[in-house]
Amino acid sequence: MSEPRELRRERLVELYREASECTRCPLSETRANVVFGAGNADAALMFVGEAPGAEEDRQGLPFVGRAGGLLTELLAGIGMGREDVWICNVLKCRPPGNRDPQPIEIESCEPYLFRQVELIEPRVVATLGNFATKLLSGSRAGITRVRGAPQVREIAGRTVFLLPLLHPAAALRTPSLVDTLREDFAKLPELIERPLPEGAGAPAVVELAVTAGETPANQLDLFG
Ligand code: URA
Repeated sequence: MSEPRELRRERLVELYREASECTRCPLSETRANVVFGAGNADAALMFVGEAPGAEEDRQGLPFVGRAGGLLTELLAGIGMGREDVWICNVLKCRPPGNRDPQPIEIESCEPYLFRQVELIEPRVVATLGNFATKLLSGSRAGITRVRGAPQVREIAGRTVFLLPLLHPAAALRTPSLVDTLREDFAKLPELIERPLPEGAGAPAVVELAVTAGETPANQLDLFG
């Protein structure tokens, strides 16, 4: 049995508060804002990117720069809006100069991502680019090899369809890749409706105690 929606949402807000003060890795010293994630806290579809860039760091929101513009456009192409999905990253803080995430940063930050999967309960996790794909598929296979082919994966104790996708930033650098991304995005509506394999949908074991707390309005806006 799944946790009631309101309880999961309350716990997500608690996780947001915790992440907002995180000092688990040195990125906390250089970030302007923690970029926790945003969108529909009950979404069937979750996007996971790499890490916030400059604009995301400034606004505290994921995918609000140029790559985010393309992501929004690709979503519109399949009849969806950002309010229908959850969007987040492997890293919640910006690596200086947008360098690649370091293993220690991924290790420190991944519990937030796994907990987001537990609390939002997506059926489909679309990974954007190599870092998210390798982390959540548990495989070293690179994105160009695995993109566009759905996998069944267990993430944080939940069975999901994982759909590896090219990172929108790659398509901004190489415009011919936009068509590839469009083609792969077109698989999402059917995948969201596809029954998960036997035994899927079993609730994650939630071990954290519930702490009731006030939910500030701006956080509710974030979690639509
Ligand atoms: N690239 C990412 O991977 N994430 C963002 O939030 C923005 C750009």
